[in-house]
Amino acid sequence: MAESPPITSPFVEAAPAARHAAFADLAAAGPVQRVMLFTGVPVWLITGYAEAREALAHPDIIKGKGGDGPHRDAVPAELAAAMDHHLLGADPPDHTRLRRLVSAAFTRRRIEGLEPEIRLIVDGLLDDVSAAGKHGAPIDLLAAFGYPLPLTVISELLGVPAEARREFQEWTTVAINGSVHPAETFIAAATSLIGYIRELIAQKLADPSDDLVSALVAVRADGDRLSEDELTSMVFLLLVAGYETTAHLICGGTQTLLTHPDQLDLVRAEPDRLPAVVEELLRFNGPAQVSTPYRTAAPVRIGGVTIPAGEVVLPALLAANRDPRQFHAPERLDVTRPPASHLAFGHGIHHCLGAPLARLEARIALGALVGRFPGLRLAVPPEELTVQASFLINGLTTLPVIVT
Ligand code: HEM
Repeated sequence: MAESPPITSPFVEAAPAARHAAFADLAAAGPVQRVMLFTGVPVWLITGYAEAREALAHPDIIKGKGGDGPHRDAVPAELAAAMDHHLLGADPPDHTRLRRLVSAAFTRRRIEGLEPEIRLIVDGLLDDVSAAGKHGAPIDLLAAFGYPLPLTVISELLGVPAEARREFQEWTTVAINGSVHPAETFIAAATSLIGYIRELIAQKLADPSDDLVSALVAVRADGDRLSEDELTSMVFLLLVAGYETTAHLICGGTQTLLTHPDQLDLVRAEPDRLPAVVEELLRFNGPAQVSTPYRTAAPVRIGGVTIPAGEVVLPALLAANRDPRQFHAPERLDVTRPPASHLAFGHGIHHCLGAPLARLEARIALGALVGRFPGLRLAVPPEELTVQASFLINGLTTLPVIVT
């Protein structure tokens, strides 16, 4: 089969609208199509909502063994084992076992119990934002609020002490976006991060506390059902999956509301709407532009197309969430839209484990931001904003705002 030129446009640095336009162009060519990725890997890109949902729940569309992570040829085997043995890369029955074990520690009660702590963290960060911006100085909300909030929350949840968090942030940022960094940079960051996680686990084993790593260690001790690599990979996954995604939900959400003032007015007038607002922001401009790659275990027919066995399948969540066959006027932000299930957190057995935490953080953060700063506005014209080059993440490079 003749290969088409590699697709790059949705994954490069660009204006936010240009990224959506790139996915819309791809969607216009059909809901299921074979494309060459910028990495040189051919994939079946799924841009239709119904087709993406079907693919994500299909028993023959699996993760498959064989490390889809970045720079896999160059990553030492020991490091790969400590990063890859997690539920996002696993298929049943391993996935079922891992998800059950982590769910026993990552409980609704534990997440809901974080609410007062999250409010305190949000208020503290916004005190700093307010002080830094009090004379009308522009503040990068992503650096000052978006990144530190989820990192602090996950660190609290995991039991990472405050003094380790800056390095944590640096390693995690590189590890999550490995494919846009040279192999050495990625491997150095991942090695440091995994080394630190191993230390943390050893520490919690010796001196357990009321945190998630201690709870996971206890789950492991109970019948020894989580191996050392599985435990390390699980903590690694929670960090990389929950950090940048949540930061970009909050900052992408803020940018979206600031550029849709009528919708922002509705939010300010009725803060009770916040849960629905967060859902519409997830649909309209979710932080995960694609899911992680899947593979066909057998030939699969979706959207009238037969995908042969052994091929890579990539649901394009950003495109699916703007599918006009599913959402009325999908290009319009409408915070009063009746609830409809978007795919921003994926679907099927790998549906985001951290969705309740991300939703809670976003509600508290956006509520506090718009409540506290009635004059909040962009410090640059919206057309100067850019989204970062990334394979997975749909997130701004910076979000300069004025808070007074
Ligand atoms: C899985 C998105 C926040 C932990 C996923 C998937 C998506 C996603 C799309 C499925 C990927 C796939 O099918 O390949 C998001 C978004 C977030 C967010 C948009 C923020 C707005 C979080 C947080 C955590 C988390 C805060 C935890 C601290 C996970 C885990 C999985 C996952 C563990 C794997 C679940 C499994 O394989 O069973 N997330 N996520 N995520 N997410 Fe999130």
